[in-house]
Amino acid sequence: MSTHEDPAGQRPAEPPQAGITRKTLLKAAVVTGFAVPLLGTGTAMADERSTKSTTAPGPNGSPLAVTPQCHDGDAPTIAEIEGPYFEPGSPQTTVLQGSDNGTHLVVTGVVYGLSCQPIANALLDFWQADSGGNYDNTGYNLRGHQYTDSQGRYTLTTIVPGLYPGRTKHIHVKVQAPNQPILTTQLYFPGVPQNSGDAYYDSRLLMNVSGSNATYDFVLDVQQNPGPPPPPPPPPGGGGTWVAGHTYAAGDVVTYNGSTYVCIQGHTSMTGWEPPNVPALWRLQ
Ligand SMILES: [Fe+2]
Repeated sequence: MSTHEDPAGQRPAEPPQAGITRKTLLKAAVVTGFAVPLLGTGTAMADERSTKSTTAPGPNGSPLAVTPQCHDGDAPTIAEIEGPYFEPGSPQTTVLQGSDNGTHLVVTGVVYGLSCQPIANALLDFWQADSGGNYDNTGYNLRGHQYTDSQGRYTLTTIVPGLYPGRTKHIHVKVQAPNQPILTTQLYFPGVPQNSGDAYYDSRLLMNVSGSNATYDFVLDVQQNPGPPPPPPPPPGGGGTWVAGHTYAAGDVVTYNGSTYVCIQGHTSMTGWEPPNVPALWRLQ
């Protein structure tokens, strides 16, 4: 088992978070009955809370209070540092070995794309410290990867990670849609006093925790439903049929309903702006 990940003065150089935007994605979390004491996480969290219901039931089948939500057009889940203890080649499993030495925890959620449609067969590779705050750097305890099901869902059975100097409680994860870039990030626990003193903590990565159940939905920077293809451009040199969505320059010549028009002012064409309707843009030839 390893030493601590980020002891003071030994942390590897890690990128700053200045490029991370604060656009609302996660509506944060409220915890009930969790093993760690509740702590107000500050005003930055308060304005990101959602009133919507959760995607996963609580321990008694009742809905959790709030949960991360995916809204069409929202920003993707933010990236965070990988840290020094990622190990490739983890076993494929939803139950992390070594999870019997700490507080039981089940994390569930959905992996979405930018249009909030679930992503099937997305890869999630988790790794974390044990309850004593140590990483296994010689084996694969508390390391494992899995794939989302046909509805984009994942389930991770593990333990609550322990604290180690310089960091709050966190779970590392890499998430990747098929043939798409890897998102490396971390998940955090609400109500942990060390959150406020952790330079990498971000409330947008808070799980929604209730007892031994936690939820978190990822939004990957993956385009979905790109829409209909753009109209074909007119043939070069002008003389083609007028189409919507094309940028015309003054002097371009088009045909429309059997008539020929000359563009007299550059513009991007739109449905409703057909040449006969806009004499300011087109002159009948
Ligand atoms: Fe870590």
